[in-house]
Amino acid sequence: MNIVITGANRGIGLELARQYLARGDSVFAGVRTPDSSGRLMALGEASGGRLHIHACDVMQDASVRSFASAITQHVDLLINNAGVKLEKDELADLDLENAARTYQVNVLGVLRVTLALLPALRRSPHPKIANISSGLGSLDRNTAGGIYGYRMSKAALNMASRSLAHDLRKDAIITVVLTPGWVKTDMGGSGATTDVADSAAGLIGVIDRLTPEDSGRYISFQGESVPW
Ligand SMILES: NC(=O)c1ccc[n+]([C@@H]2O[C@H](COP(=O)([O-])OP(=O)(O)OC[C@H]3O[C@@H](n4cnc5c(N)ncnc54)[C@H](OP(=O)(O)O)[C@@H]3O)[C@@H](O)[C@H]2O)c1
Repeated sequence: MNIVITGANRGIGLELARQYLARGDSVFAGVRTPDSSGRLMALGEASGGRLHIHACDVMQDASVRSFASAITQHVDLLINNAGVKLEKDELADLDLENAARTYQVNVLGVLRVTLALLPALRRSPHPKIANISSGLGSLDRNTAGGIYGYRMSKAALNMASRSLAHDLRKDAIITVVLTPGWVKTDMGGSGATTDVADSAAGLIGVIDRLTPEDSGRYISFQGESVPW
């Protein structure tokens, strides 16, 4: 499979790239700064030319356009993984600039990349889009409040993904939102409950098993439906 992963230089994106390369897939990795993506580059050495690293800042139209034009093959799977969770996100210290930037990356960034790659997805016999959301985007599961900009961004991503699922059904593109668990990455922190390898393996298993009936679903890395 030809797989595009954004934010593939660290965290969940890096581990997804590692596991897909290990099983023989080709990975087109989008990163903000290719020159400082050492851990990702190291994966390329053993991949027999199946790892392609390109600059892609999901906030920038020109960067996303040039990323998409560098991918001349069809795309079987787009994983919109790049995301931010910025500081000052509580009611007492809310920074609205940060909230706006979070929306730019986590919502508009996903749409920007998806729109740019639609032609390449349409050339795949079985195309899929997996948008990495968060349980923090669930309205039903918000029993504690707080984390405004991030929660709002993931809830908006969920809505955008649901619309994409409807709009892309005619192209047979399966679109889902996935939650990776609370993962030990820079974002999740060392107190998180899920190892990055387990999260990525779970996500890959869920993506492998997707059928057209799953399009529009909100699914955890353990394969369970998440309440909206
Ligand atoms: N970790 C968790 O517990 C958890 C839980 C729920 C959901 N998630 C979601 O899972 C995804 C991955 O999270 P993670 O834990 O792996 O986070 P992470 O370790 O902080 O990595 C985030 C990745 O996103 C990239 N990124 C940020 N802004 C970008 C931009 N403008 N353009 C392109 N790439 C950009 C980063 O690149 P740079 O290195 O250049 O900054 C980095 O590669 C995110 O969507 C996150 O919201 C994570």
